[in-house]
Amino acid sequence: MAAVGIHVPVMTREIIAIYGRRADSEAVFIDATLGAGGHALAVLERFPRASLIGFDQDERARELAAERLSAHSSRVRIVPENFRGIARLAEDADWRGADGILFDLGVSNMQLTAPERGFSFNDDGPLDMRMNQSEGTVTAETLLATKSVLELAGIFRDYGEERHAYRIAKAIVAARDMGDAPTTTGGLTALIRRTLPAPVQRKMGAHPARRVFQALRIAVNSELEALDEGLDGALAVTAHMGVIAVISYHSLEDRIVKRRFLKWSEEGFGRAAAKRPLVPADEETVCNRSSRSAKLRAFIKGDTTIRRKKY
Ligand SMILES: C[S@@+](CC[C@H](N)C(=O)[O-])C[C@H]1O[C@@H](n2cnc3c(N)ncnc32)[C@H](O)[C@@H]1O
Repeated sequence: MAAVGIHVPVMTREIIAIYGRRADSEAVFIDATLGAGGHALAVLERFPRASLIGFDQDERARELAAERLSAHSSRVRIVPENFRGIARLAEDADWRGADGILFDLGVSNMQLTAPERGFSFNDDGPLDMRMNQSEGTVTAETLLATKSVLELAGIFRDYGEERHAYRIAKAIVAARDMGDAPTTTGGLTALIRRTLPAPVQRKMGAHPARRVFQALRIAVNSELEALDEGLDGALAVTAHMGVIAVISYHSLEDRIVKRRFLKWSEEGFGRAAAKRPLVPADEETVCNRSSRSAKLRAFIKGDTTIRRKKY
């Protein structure tokens, strides 16, 4: 197994600052995407009497987070579920609402750099891409083996904004019809490289397989549907003046968050903390390249005062 990279949490200082304004001493925080527990640890250290409920659908992530947060275990509850079900927290008769909820979307570095998880076009591994590897979940390999050209093209276009979606989908189904469907990340990358003419690849700027990999990952994990449901659930379990913070890494996610916050404020549920998203400081993008595309938006429930320009 290749070395698995440690996940460095993104915009932690900003998250603590956003929580800081509202956290009473016994605040309840939800980390909807626990990952390696980096944000969670920072929150528990900064608010020593607060408790934290952490969701992650990835078993390995939960194990790592539990280990990392062990010094605070009496204040931590780890929920082995998709954050789609976050609203169920309110079914507990004692539930009094969360003071802060964080969604740090996408995959962690541990997932991305483990070739056997199949998330990366830089390594060779099985075409898996599932965050939740439990029985009954569908891999990227299965999607490529079962979807029609039009369905695959739709996935690549809608979730990857891939301009050459149809051409790539057609090549995949043609390979499949010859009994040569890609079953590994290396196989899929090679097929994309064979399919797109060199000048087209040069024009793409980034790696030619990047958008297809993003699209497959989103489809395999139903990421946009989960975000949709998770956000509504989050609003339901947030206390008055509690904050919902979302760090997104591509425009599809950010668009959903931006529109949802706008809709909520129009409906009188509160207000977005700022009109524009916060982005990481230059020092952070230099030290942590994964933070470069990050956008942070926050919504304050129940606050209908005039929107401030800054957090
Ligand atoms: C970017 S990482 C979070 C890293 C974390 N903030 C930290 O500081 O280590 C995203 C994590 O969220 C998990 N995840 C993504 N979507 C999820 C969902 N719908 N439900 C539960 N967990 C999810 C992934 O498995 C991954 O571990």
